[in-house]
Amino acid sequence: MPFTPDSELDLLFPAEYISQEIRAQLHPDLHLRPLASSDYKRGHLSILSVLTVVTDPGEDAWIAQFNAQREAVRTYYSIVIIDKPTDRIVAVGTAFIERKFLRGLGSVGHIEDIAVDAKQQGKKLGLRIIQALTAISENSGCYKTILNCSDKNIPFYQKCGFEQKENEMARYASQDRAHTPRL
Ligand SMILES: CC(C)(COP(=O)(O)OP(=O)(O)OC[C@H]1O[C@@H](n2cnc3c(N)ncnc32)[C@H](O)[C@@H]1OP(=O)(O)O)[C@@H](O)C(=O)NCCC(=O)NCCS
Repeated sequence: MPFTPDSELDLLFPAEYISQEIRAQLHPDLHLRPLASSDYKRGHLSILSVLTVVTDPGEDAWIAQFNAQREAVRTYYSIVIIDKPTDRIVAVGTAFIERKFLRGLGSVGHIEDIAVDAKQQGKKLGLRIIQALTAISENSGCYKTILNCSDKNIPFYQKCGFEQKENEMARYASQDRAHTPRL
């Protein structure tokens, strides 16, 4: 599939929100942009499966989720790196903005779901994704940007300028209750 320029895509948010300086540091065969409504076809879920179990909901349900993110204005920032010769996704990541009542109605940026294609790891794609998401978080006025990670990824995030702080707690819903909203 030939490379599809941003102007021909239906993007999650304006491409100008992504730092031009960070984009310029990528290899010319790579392109960093917001998630597009047609990215189901460019292997979005297969890159996420590098990170964890991914169940394919089908393209229509994927697009409904894309639209739900876009309807929550100035909240979800999912980005991708595209391999231009194949027009396939090779790296992904998301930031979402939490609006608080404390710290003078401050906001916090949460970074989630960072994954780089196994064949492209170690080439600074993860770093560029984190830099782009952190810049979006800070440009959104967030007073901090936070994320959870496994112990083995701590050195990666330290290289990205993050420091270890406090602990993560989690409680998983039982299988029969998960994915069934009642509110
Ligand atoms: C973790 C991950 C996102 C890193 O992306 P990447 O593109 O491979 O990493 P980068 O090339 O951008 O690495 C940036 C720096 O961090 C270092 N680094 C990356 N992973 C590291 C690790 N596990 N341990 C130590 N250093 C690491 C790199 O050596 C590089 O250092 P340098 O600047 O001195 O050369 C990627 O390997 C990945 O997708 N892993 C599987 C999914 C996953 O674990 N996601 C994170 C969820 S929290």
